[in-house]
Amino acid sequence: MDKTIGILTSGGDTPGSNAAIRAFGKAAISNYGMKIIGFRDGFRGLMENHFIMLDNKMLSGILTLGGTILGTSREKPFRMNVDGNEKDMTELIINNYHANKLDALVCIGGNGTQKNAYHLAERGLNIITLPKTIDNDVAKTDVTFGFDTAMGIATEAIDRLHSTASSHHRIIIVEIMGNKAGWLTLGSGIAGGADVILIPEIPYHVDKIAESILERKKLGKSFSIIAIAEGAMSHDFNTLYSKLKEKIDVTKDKDSKEKLKQDRTELDILNASNTIRLGNHLQELTKLEARVTILGHLQRGGTPSSADRLLATRMGTACAKFIENEDYGIMVALKKNHIDAVPLEKVVGKTKKVPVDHQWIKSARRVGTCFGD
Ligand code: F6P
Repeated sequence: MDKTIGILTSGGDTPGSNAAIRAFGKAAISNYGMKIIGFRDGFRGLMENHFIMLDNKMLSGILTLGGTILGTSREKPFRMNVDGNEKDMTELIINNYHANKLDALVCIGGNGTQKNAYHLAERGLNIITLPKTIDNDVAKTDVTFGFDTAMGIATEAIDRLHSTASSHHRIIIVEIMGNKAGWLTLGSGIAGGADVILIPEIPYHVDKIAESILERKKLGKSFSIIAIAEGAMSHDFNTLYSKLKEKIDVTKDKDSKEKLKQDRTELDILNASNTIRLGNHLQELTKLEARVTILGHLQRGGTPSSADRLLATRMGTACAKFIENEDYGIMVALKKNHIDAVPLEKVVGKTKKVPVDHQWIKSARRVGTCFGD
């Protein structure tokens, strides 16, 4: 009998999501005669039974569209906002999966989505996921779709900031997304020729950065571009943060653990204004004018790059084939340029960070980029 498959996008929207929905839907319908139900706004749509039927007509003309035609949200099945209160809605979600006679559910998203999807797989649902995030921080895949587009946008921003920094002889600090991983900042920083690249994986010393800027000045380069990841931390701040994390990990008492987690949230809030503080500090230390540009959600907007369209199409079509073969509880991944399937339990609970000896870092150091260490 022909299969009925649900699909949803969850977590931060990402260029390439529509390309993946299209690729999966077209391959599933045309090659395997599957029926596709698109749930709105992530897991919320499955909870509210809010969906649209995706046929070939609906899937046409969306390849180049940014965002997701299904809508998205960061809501988790076990912690849904219901009338202003957080509730575990897993049972209702499972009931709706069965009520719609789904043979499988495709979840497109980043680390949070992988975890939520895994919990549903543990409850017996046939789950398959696709890795999408601009952060490129999902484990067990070489790359996620959305990353290439965002890297292109950030690189263009750095290119444009060069001329104004140079004209005014200023330090320009550009803050780039990426959550707790430095891929986006590192990739765009190298491609855009940033003089300083600061990523969460390498805690920085402000005086080292100031030194490298003054060194450039001595060489007649009167401006500097600093690409900083939103999750980057100074060495001192990182020590504080890591100690707190260790304490959270070893604390057994529920209330004490909760209190420590609140302290960590406060540190996260404080670090959110880190880039502005860095600008002021460098201005003081170098006596050069500093300006800050925060790229924010610009990096997630607009049409996907050709590389992301290609990757999303490869992953989406492979997903249809995995479902036809009833290969469930897996994430579709790219490994050494081959599409592969990875068991979800190997993906969840991990963040793919930049190894500090990564080739990109070595190359950047060889062209004289300062990492503040
Ligand atoms: O995960 C993608 C991402 O854009 C991160 O880089 C960033 O930290 C986060 O989402 C921002 O989330 P939101 O869109 O919910 O503000």
